[in-house]
Amino acid sequence: VIITQDNLKKIAAYKAVEYVESGMVLGLGTGSTAKHAVDRIGELLRQGELKDIVGIPTSKKTHEQALSLGIPLSDLDSHPVVDLAIDGADEVDPFLNLVKGRGGSLLREKMVESACKKFIVIVDESKLVNYIGGSGLAMPVEVIQFCWKFTAERLRRLFEEAGCVAKLRTFGEKDEPFVTDNGNFIVDLYFERSFGDLKAASDAILQLAGVVEHGMFLDMATTVIVAGELGLTVKNK
Ligand code: A5P
Repeated sequence: VIITQDNLKKIAAYKAVEYVESGMVLGLGTGSTAKHAVDRIGELLRQGELKDIVGIPTSKKTHEQALSLGIPLSDLDSHPVVDLAIDGADEVDPFLNLVKGRGGSLLREKMVESACKKFIVIVDESKLVNYIGGSGLAMPVEVIQFCWKFTAERLRRLFEEAGCVAKLRTFGEKDEPFVTDNGNFIVDLYFERSFGDLKAASDAILQLAGVVEHGMFLDMATTVIVAGELGLTVKNK
């Protein structure tokens, strides 16, 4: 049997859904891994194995998916305390710090996931890194559209010593700017080396006017479920 990366994502997602109990307010993540968890929650509701779930989606896309599955939905205004959130990640470091937002939903994800009592992250083993920024892939920052080049340059300069490159996220053949669910742009940061202190980096990014949020989720995950070729690993905070 060939185990695909998508199989691993599904295995991690199904394991996480074992932590879901009837009556919970649930943060519903975004991305190809979280999608499996949302599907599974829908299935268990339909089978009557789960009851009285309220879902808080972290993106318009997940909102659509959950609606189509008949999962009752609400938002943080009505449910400011979330029992459990389940979501994927782009990077997980040894201390369970994360990079998220390669799918562009970092702001709503961070709002929902910082309001939850328990936050389970589901990944396949390709997401494990030695340090944040270490995958060589993007670390996203959501910025307002107004003078985004100015903001991108200020971001790049913050991390000059780490060999940072800042790029506007685009999509399609015409390279149009990617616009988030909140009407903002994404500047993706790439690093040649580790930039060191994560908390200091987070504070510095958030202090720039024009920045809305960044994709580092520090000290937020309570559990990380990793699916690999050799099986499942559950890491707890
Ligand atoms: C969405 O903006 C992201 O934060 C995703 O949760 C993250 O990119 C993981 O996505 P995949 O499960 O598709 O890798």
